[in-house]
Parts: sequence; C-alpha cells; structure tokens
Amino acid sequence: MLTLDLSKLAGVVSQDQISAMAPEVEAAHAKLYDPAAPGSDFVGWVRLPENYDKDEFARIQKAAAKIRQDSQVLVVIGIGGSYLGARAALEVFPSDGPEICFVGCSLSPNELQKVMKKVEGRDWSINVISKSGGTTEPAVAFRVFRDLLVKQYGKEADGRIYATTDKARGALKTLADSNGWESFVVPDDVGGRFSVLSAVGLLPIAAAGVDIEQLMAGARDAMSAFDRRDMSNPVWQYVAARNLLYRQGKKVELFCTYEPSYSFVGEWLKQLFGESEGKDGKGIFPASAQFTTDLHSLGQYIQDGERHLFETVIYVDDTGCDIAIPHSDDNGDNLNYLAGKPLSFVREMAFQGTLAAHQDGGAPSMVLRLPKMDVHALGELFYFFELSCGISGHVLGVNPFNQPGVEAYKKNMFALLGKP
Ligand code: PA5
Repeated sequence: MLTLDLSKLAGVVSQDQISAMAPEVEAAHAKLYDPAAPGSDFVGWVRLPENYDKDEFARIQKAAAKIRQDSQVLVVIGIGGSYLGARAALEVFPSDGPEICFVGCSLSPNELQKVMKKVEGRDWSINVISKSGGTTEPAVAFRVFRDLLVKQYGKEADGRIYATTDKARGALKTLADSNGWESFVVPDDVGGRFSVLSAVGLLPIAAAGVDIEQLMAGARDAMSAFDRRDMSNPVWQYVAARNLLYRQGKKVELFCTYEPSYSFVGEWLKQLFGESEGKDGKGIFPASAQFTTDLHSLGQYIQDGERHLFETVIYVDDTGCDIAIPHSDDNGDNLNYLAGKPLSFVREMAFQGTLAAHQDGGAPSMVLRLPKMDVHALGELFYFFELSCGISGHVLGVNPFNQPGVEAYKKNMFALLGKP
C-alpha cells in the first residue's frame, strides 16, 4: 500500500497541529456520506471500486477485446475528466495492442491532423467520451473522425464506435441510440474528474491491454484502508497538512514525480484539485513538475523564488527495471565514483538531496511513496487522491463537486461563434 511521509514538513507543520485538525477532517469526511452536504449528488465515486456495475465491466472487457482484435488504432475522444485519467494510466502503462490516440482535448487543427494521418490506411475504432454529450471540443473532433470512419467503413462504421456518456440524456446518447453504437455509462453521481474508475477510464485502459481488474483491486484496497476515521489515516494526514500549509500562505501545491511517465498523473491531479477546490475566491493552485528535469528549470524558483509553495512528491520505489553505470578506463567524465551503482540509486540520492534543499529553502514537501510501478498501485493512487480531494474541498468550505467557473469561457466562445 502507498505510504505518506510528512517528516519533511518539520518546522513548518507540527504533528500536534496535524492532530488538532482531526475534528475538522472528520466532519469533512462525514460530509461525503451526508445527503444534505453540498455536492451530495456526486459522491458515487466514493464506493465505486466495489459498487461498480459488474455487467457493464464485463461488456467493457468484451469491447476492449474486440478493439484489440480488429483495430490498430483506437481514437479516444474526450476532454477534462473524460480523458485525463485514461491518459495518465496509459502514459505509465503504454498499450501493447492498438495505438491509443487522444483527441478532442484541444481545438488545435495540428493535433487533429496528426491523428487523422495516423489512422490513414489502418484499421481503427473510436471511443467517444462525454458525460454531458455536448462539450464542444470532443463534439467537433467526433464529427471529424466519425466522418472519416464512415468514409472508410460505410455502414460497418457503427460497429466501431463506442460511446461513453450519460445513461439517458444528451446529444451523444441520442446519436448512440439512433445508430446502435455500443454505449457505456458515466454514472449520474460520478462527476467527470472523479470518473477514471468508471467506463470513462476503463475502456481505453482495457483496450490498451492493461489489467483493469487489478486497477479496481488497487482502488478497492485503498478504499478500505483509507476509510479509517482517525489521524492514522494517510488521507486525513495529507488533507490536514495541505490545509494547514494553505492557511500559512502556501497557496501553490506542486505535484512532483521522478518518473516522466507519471507526468500525466500530474495533469490529472491539476484537474482534480483545480476544478474541485478553486472557487469562491479560495483554493490551493495545483501545479506539476517532473524531476529531475524541472530542477534545471523550475528548480531555481522552487528553491529561491516567492515562498508560497509546497510540494507533494509522488515517488516510485521499484520501477521494475534498473541500469548499472558502467566503469570507464579513461574516466574522462570523472564518473567512476558511480561505476557499478544502479541508476535508481543516483535517482534516490537526487530525491533525498532535493527534499533537504527544498526544506531548507522554505518549500516543504510531503512524500507519497508507491512501492512498485504496477497497476494495483496506480489504482491506490487514483483513489487516494480522489478521497483526499473530496474531503479537502469540504475542509476548505467549498462544494468540491461542481465547476461553475468553467462556463464563463464557453459563454463567450458560443457568443463569438454565433451558436444559435
Ligand atoms: O470534471 C468535469 O466535470 C469536467 O472536467 C468534465 O470532465 C469535462 O468538462 C468534460 O465534460 P464532458 O464529459 O461532459 O464532455
């Protein structure tokens, strides 16, 4: 199970302060089960790892097997919560089957065209994902790719479109029903950014050949481990610490990883926390960095710039591979002091050295350690942060499950586009 280390908060946040947060965190945790709490219609994700629709899960596995058998490319269309979870998982565990391409997450003609070229002359399918069924970016991309699919396959195209959307409402649901596309449901009580463990994340992840049973098992284990209602619960500790840091003026949380393949976990986290907490003039600003890469860019700011940030480091102990640094007879690069050492040892020392330096510099860190880079641990990680985010939003005093601010740009864009 993942562990949380708060030792590098010493001198900034004390154990006593964390313990004193227990009543607040307890009340916030209880709100996830309180029908009168703000956002109570959107807490289906809390028990999702055990309450998921088993028949649909089997259909997801079946559809994934078909895609793996008849497609060289799967074009996944979605934005925000309808894309980031699957993308995060597949950056860590790349597909061993069809190439998975994500579109509909920008309005860039270049990005769309790159994927249009990839499907040329190949067998492919589409998984279009939108809870509302009408979000502009994926709707536009879907129109383009559906057109291509129909040109290539004619009527057979309908057997290559998988729609993940609301069970009853929205333009995508209507289209799916009238064309007979296989459909999967985004549960009513699961918002986009909490939906990675529903069909939204599971179908693309399964199509890539990743074991979704293991992903759910990891989330389920985390669900029972982190339901504990006291300060020995790492979720409670994390929630308490980040809120205490925020109250001390640490308004930016930098999610850092030493594994480049986890950088999209950082993107997923930015959405999860940004959209859940950034409202009513409040909220920790979520940012992400990839170490050691960004120590050579952002590192200066983190060490020495404005003192308004703290770090949450996601560190993977065993990444499943290692490389020994070779001996060199001429030692022209003066690296023989590392000869024979595994690269993971150098990474670990960089990690320890950075933690100490940032602590000294006033950018304190919390460390979330994953014992292994495996699918089970990723399920734990997803659930750890979802639960932390839900509770933390209630500690902050906002509704963590709405996103009223997202409408402002859409309103302007539709007016400029002349939408009827
Ligand atoms: O978390 C959310 O609710 C949002 O980020 C949505 O996932 C995003 O806006 C996409 O919405 P939809 O799935 O309705 O297309």
